[in-house]
Amino acid sequence: MRAADIADQLTTVLVTEEQIQERLDALAAQVVADYEGKDLLLVGVLKGAVMVMADLARALPREIAMDWMAVSSYGAGTKSSGVVQIRKDLDADLTGKHVLIVEDIIDSGLTLSWLLENFASRGAASIEVLALLRKPEAAKVEIDCRYVGFDIPNEFVVGYGLDYAEGYRNLRDVAVLAPHVYS
Ligand code: PRP
Repeated sequence: MRAADIADQLTTVLVTEEQIQERLDALAAQVVADYEGKDLLLVGVLKGAVMVMADLARALPREIAMDWMAVSSYGAGTKSSGVVQIRKDLDADLTGKHVLIVEDIIDSGLTLSWLLENFASRGAASIEVLALLRKPEAAKVEIDCRYVGFDIPNEFVVGYGLDYAEGYRNLRDVAVLAPHVYS
C-alpha cells in the first residue's frame, strides 16, 4: 500500500517509495565499488530489514550471499534496555567473510551496538553497517554506520518494514504515524 491509501492514519510522509529506491540505487553503487573483488555477505536483521534487504540486494549488479538474524530486546522490559536476545542466529560462519549488516533503522543504536559487539568475536574479515533510516536525535550510542539512507526526525515512523503492533510494514513509503492510531 501507498501512504495515500491510509492518509487518515498518517501525519507526514517522510520518504517516498521513489526516494527510497533512488537512494538504494546510489548506496548499491557505493557498495559495489567498495567490495570489488571481495565476497560479500549481507546480514539482515529481522523483521524490519526485510524490505531494504530485498531491494538493496536486487539493486546490486553482482552476486552476494544473504543471511538473517532475529533478535529481541528484553531485560528492563523496554527495547531501550539494550539487552538483546538472539531468537534466530546466523546460519553462516562469519570467519573470513566481508559482512554488511543491513538494517531498516538506527533509533537508539542499542541493537546494532550489541550486534556489532556480538559479531566482533566471530572472525569476520570486515563488518560494516547499512541503515536505510537513522534518527540522530534518538541516539544513545554512536554507531559507525558506513551507509545511511536518510536521517529523519525523532518521530514514530512506520512503513517499508517498520511496524506499529506488527502492522504497516507493507506500507511502501516511510511516514509518521498519526497519534490517534496509538494513543
Ligand atoms: C527495530 C529495527 C532495529 C531496532 C532499532 O527492530 O529494526 O533492529 O529496532 O532500534 P534501536 O536503534 O533503538 O536499537 P525491532 O526491535 O522493532 O524489531 P522488528 O525489526 O522485528 O520490528
